[in-house]
Amino acid sequence: MSDRPTTTTDAGIPAPSDAHSQSVGPNGPLLLQDHYLIQKMAHFNRERVPERVVHAKGGGAYGVLEITEDVSQYTRASLFQKGARTESLVRFSSVAGELGSADAGRDPRGFAIKFYTDEGNYDLVGNNTPIFFIRDPQKFSDFIHSQKRRADNHLRDNNMQWDFWTLSPESAHQVSLLMTDRGTPASWRHMNGYGSHTFLWYNAAGEKFWVKYHFKTEQGIRNFTAEEADAQDPDVHIRDLYEAIKRGDHPSWTVQVQIMPFEDAADYRFNPFDLTKVWPHADYPPITIGRWTLNRNPENYFAEIEQAAFEPANLVPGIGASPDKMLQGRLFSYPDTHRYRIGPNYLQLPVNRPKAPVHTYNKDGGMAYYNSGDPVYAPNSVGGPVADPALWTGDTYGVAGEIVRSAYTLHREDDDYGQARTLWEKVLSDVDRDHMVHNILIHANAPEVTGDMKPRVVEYWRNVDKDLGDRVARGLGVNGS
Ligand code: NDP
Ligand code: HEM
Repeated sequence: MSDRPTTTTDAGIPAPSDAHSQSVGPNGPLLLQDHYLIQKMAHFNRERVPERVVHAKGGGAYGVLEITEDVSQYTRASLFQKGARTESLVRFSSVAGELGSADAGRDPRGFAIKFYTDEGNYDLVGNNTPIFFIRDPQKFSDFIHSQKRRADNHLRDNNMQWDFWTLSPESAHQVSLLMTDRGTPASWRHMNGYGSHTFLWYNAAGEKFWVKYHFKTEQGIRNFTAEEADAQDPDVHIRDLYEAIKRGDHPSWTVQVQIMPFEDAADYRFNPFDLTKVWPHADYPPITIGRWTLNRNPENYFAEIEQAAFEPANLVPGIGASPDKMLQGRLFSYPDTHRYRIGPNYLQLPVNRPKAPVHTYNKDGGMAYYNSGDPVYAPNSVGGPVADPALWTGDTYGVAGEIVRSAYTLHREDDDYGQARTLWEKVLSDVDRDHMVHNILIHANAPEVTGDMKPRVVEYWRNVDKDLGDRVARGLGVNGS
C-alpha cells in the first residue's frame, strides 16, 4: 500500500483500476455496469465550455490595486480612496484568434480587471488601446465576423477585413494603432491598459465627473516587429506572465485617470463619449492615483481563468456608465454571454464570486450553490434585505430627445481621420512610421486581397495622411497620387 490516495469516482467511491475497463474475460466486450469507465468518458465529453466568442485565447493572474492619492473629490468609490488596497484578477487576451491561436499575432489585446471591492465586484474590461474600431454596437458582430473566418473555406481573410475597415472609416484611428508595432506587444507585461470608454464618477456630495483610465506599464512598452512576432512560440505571452510571477518578478502599472468636469462634455471639441477618440493629454492631463501589481499565479487555469467572467455592467457606487453607445451595448452583452457560456450561476464560482456579502432575491437555476434562503420575495415583512434608495441619485444625468437611429451629433473637431493623423504626424517616430507602413503592406499584400480592394486601402490611408497613403500605394503597386 503506498502513501498515495486511492483514485475515486467523482462521487468519492474508491476505484479499482485506472487502466482496465470491466470486460467479459480478458478479450471480451465491455460492460455497461462499469460506471467508473462511463463516468470518465462522459465527463471527458463535457470538459469544454464554449470558448469566448471573442478574446478566446488568454491568460491571467491575481494582483492588488493600491491608491496613493486622494481623489475623493471625484469619486466616492471605496476602491479609489487613498490608502485602499483591493485584490484583483486580470485576464489578458488576444481578440480574434481561437483558444489555441498564437499569442503574438497582430491584434488588440484584452486587459480585463476584476476588482473584488468591499462594495461588490468592479470590472474594468479594457484593451491595450485607448480607442476602438467602431462607435455603435450595431456593428460589433459584423466587425468581429470580418476578423474571424469565412463561411466557405473557414479561413481568415484580410480582404474582408479591409472591406469592413474601408467601409467603416471610423475604424481608421484604431487600425492605425493596430498597424504600429503596438499591434504585436512583446508581452502582456510590456503594454499599457486602458478603460477606453468614458465613465461617470460621482463623489459623496453627488458631484459628477467624466473619467478615463490609463494603466501605464512600469516595465516599459516593448513590442515585436512583424517578423519577430511571426517567429514566436504560440504561447509566448501566457508563458512569459506565468514565469515572471513565479520567479517573483511582479509586473506593475501606474494607474492614471483623466478627469473631465461634467459640464465640459457638451461642447468639448471632440465628442467625449465617442470610443474612436482619445482625450488629448494637453486637454485633460493624466493624474496618477495609484499602482497596480500582479503577484500571484492562478493554481487552476480552467477554474480561475477560463471560467472568469468580466462584465462592464459591474459598476460600484461612485462609478456609473456614460452615454457611450458602445459601453451601453456592452452592459447587456457580457452577462448574457456568461449565462450561455458558463451558466446562470456563473457569479457563484469562486473566481467570480464577490468578496463582499451577496444578498439577492435571485435564486435556483443550474448549479446553484450559495442559494438564497427565505424570504424568497421582496417586499417582505420578515427581515429580508432591502435596497438603499440613497443610491438612486448617484449615476444619474439628464437626457432628452426623440427616439432615432442616428450617428452621434458632431462636435467641432470630430471626424474619422483627425486623431489618426495626429498619431502619424506628431506621435510616431520615423522608425515607428516605417514599421507601420511595412505592417500595413504585409497585411494588404496577402494573396487573398483583391486588385479592387487595394485602391480602397490606399484611399483609406491617404485620408489619414497623404504621405502615408502614397507610401502604401507604392508598396501595393497602386497608381495615382
Ligand atoms: P500626447 O503627445 O500628449 O500623447 C501621445 C500619447 O501617445 C503618448 O502619451 C503615448 O500614450 C502614446 N504613444 C506614444 N508613442 C506611441 C506609439 N508609438 N504608438 C502609439 N501610441 C503612442 O498627444 P495627445 O494626447 O494629443 O494624443 C495624440 C495621439 O496620441 C492621439 O491622437 C492618439 O492617437 C495617441 N494616443 C493618445 C492617448 C491619449 O490618451 N491621449 C493614449 C495613447 C495614444 P500612452 O503612454 O498612453 O501610450
Ligand atoms: C470579451 C462583446 C467591445 C474588451 C467579449 C465577449 C463578448 C464581448 C461577448 C466574450 C465574453 C466572455 O465570453 O467571457 C463585446 C461587444 C462590444 C465589445 C458587444 C461592443 C459593442 C469591447 C471593447 C473592449 C472590449 C470596446 C475594450 C475596450 C473585451 C475584453 C474581453 C471581451 C477584454 C475579454 C474578457 C475576458 O478576458 O474574459 N466582448 N465587446 N470589448 N471584450 Fe468585448
